[in-house]
Amino acid sequence: MEKIMIEGGTPLEGSVRISGAKNSVLPVMAASILASGETVLREIPDLADVRTMCELLKNLGGICRREGDVLHIDFSDVASSEAPYEFMRRMRASILVMGPLLARTGYAKMSMPGGCAIGARPIDLHLKGLAAMGADIKKDHGWITVRAKKLAGARIYLDFPSVGATENIMMAASLAEGITIIENAAEEPEIVDLANFLNSMGSRITGAGTNIIRIEGVKELKPVQHTVIPDRIEAGTFMVAAAACGGDILVENAIIDHLKPVMAKLREAGAVIEEKNSGLRVVSNPPLKAVDVKTLPYPGFPTDMQAQMMALLTTARGTSVVTETVFENRFMHVNELKRMGADIIIEGHSAVVKGVPFLTGAQVKATDLRAGAALVIAGMMAKNTTEVTGVEHIDRGYEDLVGKLRGLGAKIWREKFEEDEGKIQDTAEAKL
Ligand code: UD1
Repeated sequence: MEKIMIEGGTPLEGSVRISGAKNSVLPVMAASILASGETVLREIPDLADVRTMCELLKNLGGICRREGDVLHIDFSDVASSEAPYEFMRRMRASILVMGPLLARTGYAKMSMPGGCAIGARPIDLHLKGLAAMGADIKKDHGWITVRAKKLAGARIYLDFPSVGATENIMMAASLAEGITIIENAAEEPEIVDLANFLNSMGSRITGAGTNIIRIEGVKELKPVQHTVIPDRIEAGTFMVAAAACGGDILVENAIIDHLKPVMAKLREAGAVIEEKNSGLRVVSNPPLKAVDVKTLPYPGFPTDMQAQMMALLTTARGTSVVTETVFENRFMHVNELKRMGADIIIEGHSAVVKGVPFLTGAQVKATDLRAGAALVIAGMMAKNTTEVTGVEHIDRGYEDLVGKLRGLGAKIWREKFEEDEGKIQDTAEAKL
């Protein structure tokens, strides 16, 4: 097993290039099931989640082959429409193959996603959408089976703008007969990327990026080539790291429009952010001030940036209130930050963060992907040495985080350690 070691106190300087967005790649890979033939995807980050999705696609009878940062996926045949628990357990985004399998083969069988570290995360909205299009849904002994001889367009209102449900419905509706309207749809940039991919395959989707999406079903989709958008959460993580640790960095490749809520909060805290043609320059301007943050669906402040922002706020002057509204239980990083000297109290869905003069290095454990990123940032802010275990969570969604931070001058490295050492700490699962 590996852990990340950090010697804190070094400002970040230089430039860093952002990889393709994990949350675009996964649905786009799932959508490749919809077309017979070879799909080519570019700018694909080397992430554990991408490898898991590749394995799942192979399990369904596809070919999935990586050459550098290009993925070749071939679904000339769909050999199986069943996604076993093994995949659902490892990665919740496995649910994204349900819509495409149903639309292409008329049948999909998935293991029920378990609960996970950040909350129950049901899939009722995915199922509600597919049922409205005519799918027959059965739940039995931990499995969900969806069947439809043919799908018909429908008007679907989502009680909450779920990203995954919007994507599953958009993919299934692309091959349905007639028009589907999704109301209260998710508006995330990754939804727009998926719609662009589907449209280049022959779908007729309008309104992606707004809360009403219209999909006119077509008979067939063709395989295409696509380049995914840069990862706004990876970009935001580096921006927060630079602001929190001192320094001056250029986040190359960042799409400014996608980062508005993060930029606004960093500016409010006192950091200087310049918009450049090549990306975003972030200059730390200590001392940073406390700010209140509330997570919301896009274009609100992303829940996937909440933990990293909280790490920054632990040493900001004053008291910040961080409120989580998207997930029910996403404060597992709080106890770990407290081990490093942070003063945080949880009150319901909010965390009250009182700025302390400094953090001190400690042994901490990443319990999910973004909590892991927050602990790495905290380690770089802290005095002395920090050890972060649970690195497998970080590897799910950050491409070479340690290498990229070293490129910016951070004193950070990976070290192997005996598994027994890791067993002392519990092994919560997380599926973000
Ligand atoms: C996606 C992202 C994840 C991000 C999240 C919110 C991917 C692969 N993952 O996850 O990184 O944190 O969006 O921005 O893109 N919900 C229901 N019923 C459903 C579906 C969702 O109640 O059928 C609830 C969830 O429990 C959660 C909220 O809606 O509380 C948001 O979930 P959703 O937007 O679906 O997130 P994911 O698509 O799983």
